[in-house]
Amino acid sequence: MSKLEILALSGSHRHGSFNTALLDNAKRLAPKGVEIKIYEGLDKLPFYSEELDGDSIHPEAKRLREAIASADGILLAVPEYNFSMTALLKNALDWSSRPAGRHVFVGKPTAIIGASSSILGSIRAQLHTREVLHALQADVVSRPEVLVTQAATKFEDGALKDETARLFLVQVLDNLVAKINTSELIKTASQEKAS
Ligand SMILES: Cc1cc2nc3c(=O)[nH]c(=O)nc-3n(C[C@H](O)[C@H](O)[C@H](O)COP(=O)(O)O)c2cc1C
Repeated sequence: MSKLEILALSGSHRHGSFNTALLDNAKRLAPKGVEIKIYEGLDKLPFYSEELDGDSIHPEAKRLREAIASADGILLAVPEYNFSMTALLKNALDWSSRPAGRHVFVGKPTAIIGASSSILGSIRAQLHTREVLHALQADVVSRPEVLVTQAATKFEDGALKDETARLFLVQVLDNLVAKINTSELIKTASQEKAS
């Protein structure tokens, strides 16, 4: 059986980002038969404008859409800036949300995780991201909520040391894989019905 591929996007391109570190840990904890690839280059995307979209779409936006389209599932690591997601992540989601109704997030199995320096661990940013994904019609994993609070105290040389956070990370990955498998079954069943 071929490997399932999960594309992971970090909402921070900061060197030493806790959210990117969280994705590195997810990569190491991935279930058997699952590969997590961390997308590089969200900072190369221009700010979304309809003038850069359409037939002459910006090459970085095309690359992002193709990467999302070809992945079986998406894992978003969401930092919190001023009680919301970062502009970097919102911009990536805006680019991914066109053409309207036929874009790459429709029905896409997606999970949200996040780390922040506060005791709320990016929950406000995660909830905003959940709303945006609702607009995009993504198929979002509801539980568990992976909130790495006071992030600077939870990593050591990039490794996530918090046992509860590690356990929740494993669970959210399992739930994402279950969602991918269910969505594959539904797709196959509807294709069989149509033929
Ligand atoms: C502009 C800015 C706004 C921030 N706002 C929040 C916030 O609202 N809530 C929070 O928990 N942390 C906030 N932080 C702290 C971030 O959680 C912290 O910088 C975190 O490490 C960012 O994620 P990263 O490590 O993946 O880059 C803010 C940081 C910056 C630079």
